[in-house]
Amino acid sequence: MQKLEVFGAKRLKGQIQVSGSKNASLPILAATLLSDAKVILKNLPKVRDIDTMLALLESLGSNIRINKNEIIIDNSKQKKIFASYNLVKTMRAGILVLGPLLSKFGYAKVSLPGGCAIGTRPIDIHLKALSKLGVKYKINQGYVIARAPKGLIGNNIRFSKISVGATENLIIAASLAKGTTTLTNCAIEPEIKDLVNFLKKAGCKIKWISKRSIKIIGVNEIKEITHTVMFDRIEAGTYLIAAAVTGGNLKIKNIIPRVIKKEIEVLKKLGSKIIIKKNEVKIIGSKKIKSIKIKTAPYPGFPTDLQAQIMVLLCKANKSSTVQENIFENRFMHVAELNRMGAKILIKGNKAIIEGNISFEPAELMATDLRASVSLILAALTTKGKSIINRIYHLDRGYENIEKKLKKVGAKIKRVN
Ligand code: UD1
Repeated sequence: MQKLEVFGAKRLKGQIQVSGSKNASLPILAATLLSDAKVILKNLPKVRDIDTMLALLESLGSNIRINKNEIIIDNSKQKKIFASYNLVKTMRAGILVLGPLLSKFGYAKVSLPGGCAIGTRPIDIHLKALSKLGVKYKINQGYVIARAPKGLIGNNIRFSKISVGATENLIIAASLAKGTTTLTNCAIEPEIKDLVNFLKKAGCKIKWISKRSIKIIGVNEIKEITHTVMFDRIEAGTYLIAAAVTGGNLKIKNIIPRVIKKEIEVLKKLGSKIIIKKNEVKIIGSKKIKSIKIKTAPYPGFPTDLQAQIMVLLCKANKSSTVQENIFENRFMHVAELNRMGAKILIKGNKAIIEGNISFEPAELMATDLRASVSLILAALTTKGKSIINRIYHLDRGYENIEKKLKKVGAKIKRVN
């Protein structure tokens, strides 16, 4: 199994190009199932979750060609409606094929994604909302077997809780439904806006009618299109924190700064100097890091996907800080490993109390999920010595060329078998 060796105590300096967003690419790839016309996608990140989604689409009968930096998807002969456990188990976003398959064929059999390290992660909100579009379903031997005998029929749906995945599944499903659907209490993550832009370009009739409400008038078919996926705001945030934690000086390029307003605001409060340009942000880390109280929240709040990374920076603050995790019930798996490196973080329910003024010590570590893995790299970058990070397959699910990008800005990091 591959490991990462990280040698610390280096200030990162230079520039990093941010890749395309994994979390925007996944629902857009699922949405291509609606179409019989050719779809060309650009800026997909080269990460394992995207390979898994492409394998899932191929297993459903999609014809996929990779041509330099674009992917050409032809679903005109796609007819299968069975998404197997083997493909969905490693990546929860596999459930996003349920909406488009039901919308196109009125029938689907999709594996339940199951739990994962950061929480139980049910799909009840997806299923309840799909029922309102006329879907009947049962759960049998770990699969959702769903049918819509009369096709999907538009309705007014209010989500009981804000869910990124359920909002995406329903927007996609309603795009080919008969009549009009309104969805309220929607997630409004930038990746959802990118999905909506993609669908609108393809001829779908979708309109935001208020901050968290969207109206979708079903259409009969989807047009041929080319779409460039948005930048990965979590990757951008991770590298901003990498600069802050090493007292470095980085230009984070290929982004839209206003999309990461909250992250910039937090980093400024913590003491980093930030210069915003059109498609880049320059950050100069400070030696004096301030303390803060952070609560994760749906967009435009502070993202749960940056909670582990910011915690590393807060260990270096001049006083103790708190982080409240409001999205997932078990997303503090990185804390035990950070404490093994010398951090003093105490968990009380969904709150972490983080003591400041910590100097991390190198250690052999275990990655537990995607964002936890990267937080261990950030901590290791600040130590004097060699850390070894095991189970980095988690990292490869979502960060494109991370060692290459970090090496280019001065980090000493090596992948070993
Ligand atoms: C997406 C992101 C993930 C991010 C999360 C929150 C992708 C591929 N993944 O995950 O990186 O951390 O948004 O920003 O885009 N819930 C239910 N029932 C449901 C659905 C969700 O109880 O049917 C709960 C979840 O367990 C969680 C909360 O709602 O506690 C939010 O989950 P959701 O927004 O759906 O996250 P994902 O779409 O899975």
